[in-house]
Amino acid sequence: MAADLEVHLAPSSYLAALRHDVRAGLTTEPKTLPPKYFYDARGSELFDEITRLPEYYPTRAESTILHEHADEIATLSQARTLVELGSGTSAKTRLLLRALTRAGTLHRFVPFDVDPVVLTDAAKTISTDFPLLSVEPVVGDFEEHLTLLPGGDRQLIAFLGSTIGNLEPVARGRFLRDVSSVLRPGDTFLLGTDLVKDVGRLQRAYDDSAGVTAEFNRNVLTVVNRELGADFDVTAFEHVAVWDAEHEWIEMRLRSSRDQVVHIADLDLDVRFAAGEEMRTEISAKFHPDGIADELGRVRLRVVRFWTDPDGDFGLSLATPMQ
Ligand code: AVJ
Repeated sequence: MAADLEVHLAPSSYLAALRHDVRAGLTTEPKTLPPKYFYDARGSELFDEITRLPEYYPTRAESTILHEHADEIATLSQARTLVELGSGTSAKTRLLLRALTRAGTLHRFVPFDVDPVVLTDAAKTISTDFPLLSVEPVVGDFEEHLTLLPGGDRQLIAFLGSTIGNLEPVARGRFLRDVSSVLRPGDTFLLGTDLVKDVGRLQRAYDDSAGVTAEFNRNVLTVVNRELGADFDVTAFEHVAVWDAEHEWIEMRLRSSRDQVVHIADLDLDVRFAAGEEMRTEISAKFHPDGIADELGRVRLRVVRFWTDPDGDFGLSLATPMQ
């Protein structure tokens, strides 16, 4: 049965956050836009397309791990509630739901996402497919609203897809501290992380030959045009993906192909771009297994098990609060 949407992120606060982030990001040098605004309807569609690209291995690698180890995750966690952060369409979650249902412990599923439309759809199809499950979707931003989660009984919080890689180190530490603070003894945290690997493969994964990632990247300008009355010429920005070896992250940027001034009506703001100027739109950090365990340990979470796919491309960690 699907319960009503619990909303911690009203449309007005989405717009307020967008206005704040766009003003802050476009009035500092180098300019930046946060990746969370990629995911309007078109952006989510494009991301879905990315996950099927031959060059984009992370989704397939993580699915392989889940196919192989979902039952073990169910046995180890004994979860009564599954919370999925940034759940989107919850495709990979079905593997977990099936395993936890087989184990006989699960009675509640809490998908948590910023997008109420995607969330409502996912909640409906999941309650149809798992009729005995209480599905309680929550609209919220995982960087702000974790403390509003229902909590309570033996929960497994899943954060898949290496979405954690979008957070800069300080924000990542804060996020992990928040996760740890809502977990009680016996609860578990399942974290998906893309791993450091050959730079060529990493670069191709973020600059595919069909140009889907380029379109996904530029779509954030369309979002700002629509939501804030801006006049970005989307064709005047080129997609750039570079490996930052010092920080071990892929950086996506949009490079202005000419001198131009963009007007953002709702902010009463004019923004100048020089020819060749690059604006950062996303970081996607890559990890080492021992680094993940260290970061979790710093917030008093102990890694119970760590799995990778056969090629060692992707890591999945199951952690629990230290006693
Ligand atoms: C959904 C954030 C995990 O960083 O790999 C895909 C987003 N960006 N291609 C990632 C993304 C460019 C993706 N995450």
